[in-house]
Formats: sequence, structure tokens, C-alpha cells
Amino acid sequence: MRKALERSTLQKVYDRTAGRYDRQHAFFTLSSDARGRRMVVEHAVDEGDKVLDAGAGTGGTALLAARLAGKHGKVVCYDLSQGMLEVAEAKAREAGLSGRMEFMAGDMLKMPFLTGSFDAVVSTYSLCPLYDPAEGARELYRVLRPGGLMGVAHSAEPRNMLVRLCAHMVESVAWHIPALTLGCRPVSVLPALKEAGAEVLFEDSIGVPLWPFDVFVVKKPS
Ligand SMILES: C[S@@+](CC[C@H](N)C(=O)[O-])C[C@H]1O[C@@H](n2cnc3c(N)ncnc32)[C@H](O)[C@@H]1O
Repeated sequence: MRKALERSTLQKVYDRTAGRYDRQHAFFTLSSDARGRRMVVEHAVDEGDKVLDAGAGTGGTALLAARLAGKHGKVVCYDLSQGMLEVAEAKAREAGLSGRMEFMAGDMLKMPFLTGSFDAVVSTYSLCPLYDPAEGARELYRVLRPGGLMGVAHSAEPRNMLVRLCAHMVESVAWHIPALTLGCRPVSVLPALKEAGAEVLFEDSIGVPLWPFDVFVVKKPS
């Protein structure tokens, strides 16, 4: 796995990209990113849930979760980049969902939440830029309550060998332009979650051939 960008670099890159992030991410993923967000929320969030969206960015997934959790639910948007969170807050106000959402800046690898404090945890495309994605996944799992669901979408290696070779060639050039890659690289986190005792309820692969996404939902046994 390629070494991650420094945390301070990531923070700057996302602060600067915030205004165009939605358009840029949708363009490079041919809008398959939106499908991953819907899959995660539909499979992991229930009415009345207290939800954590870790690496919430501009709030695409959090807004879907806030609608599904309903007026008795709550969604905490947690992200390293204040710029991304400001865009998310503006979208929440526009959608009339501010009352169901909270916004907090911080590092996903070390969150200030109590163990087992969320009914559902979601994270879309946010484990990919982390220095240690498996540790990030374990931290998300820690704050999930027993019996709760965790839904994740992240960049993955193409399964076909030729496509993978092609993707590596493109990536070796693109990686030098952080504003383009946003520090995202293919990762694998499900083995770490299985090791921690997670039960896999749903697993799929979506996206474009050069940039596929793994999408899955796990349950923390009661
Ligand atoms: C590719 S964006 C995904 C945003 C959003 N979840 C989505 O579905 O579009 C990655 C997000 O992870 C955030 N991020 C990166 N490293 C982080 C960290 N260590 N802790 C918290 N958030 C982080 C970035 O600021 C950015 O908003």
C-alpha cells in the first residue's frame, strides 16, 4: 500500500478542495460515489439512530443518514477538514436538517467518543487517505454499540490483473498531484474488522474499472 500523505497536508488539500469536492469526486468516479453512499446508508442506518459519519466531508452521506434516521435520530459529522465541514453545514441548513446534525472537527484515528456510543457508524471514501486505514476502521468499530451496524465504502484494488497494472501506472503519475488524488489510495480494512469480531452482513464491489470501491456493512455482536 502506498504511504499516506501527511495529516497536515491532507487537511490543507481538503480545506482548499471543499468548494469543488462534490463535482470533482463525482466526475472521477462517474457518479458511482453517490451509489456507494446510498448503499451504505440504506443497509446500516435505521429510524431513530444516533449515527456517526466519520470523515463526513461535505456531508453527502450524512444528509442521507439524517433523512433516514428521521426527527428522532441524530447524525454527528466528524472530519479533519473545517473547510469540508463548513460546506456540509451549509448543505444541512439548505435541506432544513440542521436540527438533526452536529459538526465536529478532529482525527478519525483518535476520536473523542465513548466506546459503544453510536447505534450506527458510516464512513464513505474516508478510510482511504488515512495513515493506517485498518486502525481507523478499528476506531470506528470501537465507538459502535453492541448490536449496531457499521457501513463503509472505500477505494480498492481492481480485481483484474491488467486493469490493476493500468491503474498503478495512472496512479504513479496522479499521486504527485494531491489536489487530484486527494490522498486516496486502495486499501483493505475488512480483515481487521473480522479479526475484531465483526459479523459481515453485506459486501459488494462497485465503481469504475480503474477506481473500484468496496462497500460493506458489518454488525458488532451483542
Ligand atoms: C474522499 S473524502 C470523503 C468525504 C465524504 N465521506 C464523501 O462520501 O464524499 C475524505 C474525507 O476524509 C477526511 N479525512 C482525511 N483524513 C482524516 C482523518 N485523519 N480524520 C478525519 N477525517 C479525515 C477528509 O478531510 C475528507 O473530508
